[in-house]
Amino acid sequence: MPEIQILDNDIWAERIPHLEFTELRAHAPVAWFDEPNGNSGFWAVTRLDDLVEVHRNHRIFSSQVGGTELEELERDPEAREARRTMLETDPPEHTRIRKLVSRSFTRRAIEKWESTARALIAQNVDKALSGGPVDFVETVARRFPIQMISKLLGVPDRDAEQLFHWADAVVYHADPDFSELLYDKDDTDLYRLLPFRSPSSLKVFEYAQRLAEEKKKQPEADVVSILADATDLSSREFETFFLLLVIAGNETTRHSLSHGALALAEFPDQLERLREEPTLIDTATEEILRWASPQIHFRRTAVCDTQLAGVKISAGDKVVTWYISANYDERTFVDPFTLDLGRSPNPHVTFGGGGPHICLGAWMARLEVRVFLEELVGRVRSIRLEAQPERIRSNFINGLKHLPLVLEKL
Ligand code: HEM
Repeated sequence: MPEIQILDNDIWAERIPHLEFTELRAHAPVAWFDEPNGNSGFWAVTRLDDLVEVHRNHRIFSSQVGGTELEELERDPEAREARRTMLETDPPEHTRIRKLVSRSFTRRAIEKWESTARALIAQNVDKALSGGPVDFVETVARRFPIQMISKLLGVPDRDAEQLFHWADAVVYHADPDFSELLYDKDDTDLYRLLPFRSPSSLKVFEYAQRLAEEKKKQPEADVVSILADATDLSSREFETFFLLLVIAGNETTRHSLSHGALALAEFPDQLERLREEPTLIDTATEEILRWASPQIHFRRTAVCDTQLAGVKISAGDKVVTWYISANYDERTFVDPFTLDLGRSPNPHVTFGGGGPHICLGAWMARLEVRVFLEELVGRVRSIRLEAQPERIRSNFINGLKHLPLVLEKL
């Protein structure tokens, strides 16, 4: 399918290529794509069932061999090691690393944060109710997940803004509004040992070390205190773990809230429906997460010759799973392009397709989306789109940079 473009960051800055994905799901659900700049190309997996098969089969589709991004770290083992987190580690080592913090992320542990989350989101939504247009990303969606993950990690409020500014520069490495160096345009070779080839990673690492020193002197009941105390993490493993949590714990949830608000502006009947039927809150939360699909893709590498949906895949091939396509797979979801806050069942793959790497922070993200929806319907009669949203230039995270909305008070 050479004419179909799903990689070009300029397209993602304009729109989600849903038409292209619909075409792929229908005619070439496991399709080969060539890549520019001497990269070897990849298989694009666009149907939900196939994505689940890849994710659950970590013995065939490895996260560790070449990492989980498109960049071919198998060609640069030194960089692969220097940048590796649990996301790019296969079991059994993966299990050992994940266990260090998994207790802080269980459903029960996260539910203890509910009243904190509710108070924070209420404050943020109130700020957006001034009567005039607001940038919803800046006023609500960006702040809330940063406030929450900072508390969980143990990052003091005074440092949060700066830290998350660096994190944005790391992950949005193809967008000039966030990053000085552009991953797909500039020479970033000097930074090949740093995550996302971003010099801002180094700033996050230095910060992580300073924070760890403080936590060692005065441990608290937070995740950084646990990591700072872990004797079997190397200094670099600690740094990349911290960066993973800072990025994963904030960027994706941010975009769930803004895509959620935008969806409710586009489907006003659904906002009304949730207000009239508050018991729909759990299905509403899952539907907003499906709709938002903040993580666009991740990658695996086949470790042996195999087959997927009848297509032969060779050992060493890159296999890229497109969550944003699978979440709109018409084989699984009735009328996928219609927001249905009562949708049930809703086996979306926003947090991954199962298997060892299923999102560690899923219960936290669910809590944040749920209290956001509850506090929103209790305060807002309608949401109006004031101007076109601005998208982030990224084929990796489905994000909004600015979202001008008018929220009419109840
Ligand atoms: C709506 C918000 C979120 C989305 C869409 C999301 C999405 C994902 C996805 C797709 C994966 C990879 C799954 C796989 O490869 O099988 C993942 C892994 C991960 N997520 Fe999330 N995530 C979200 C929120 C969070 C939060 C709030 C945190 C932390 C506080 C978090 C921490 C992680 C970590 C640490 C991993 C790696 C897990 C592992 O390798 O074992 N995520 N997430």
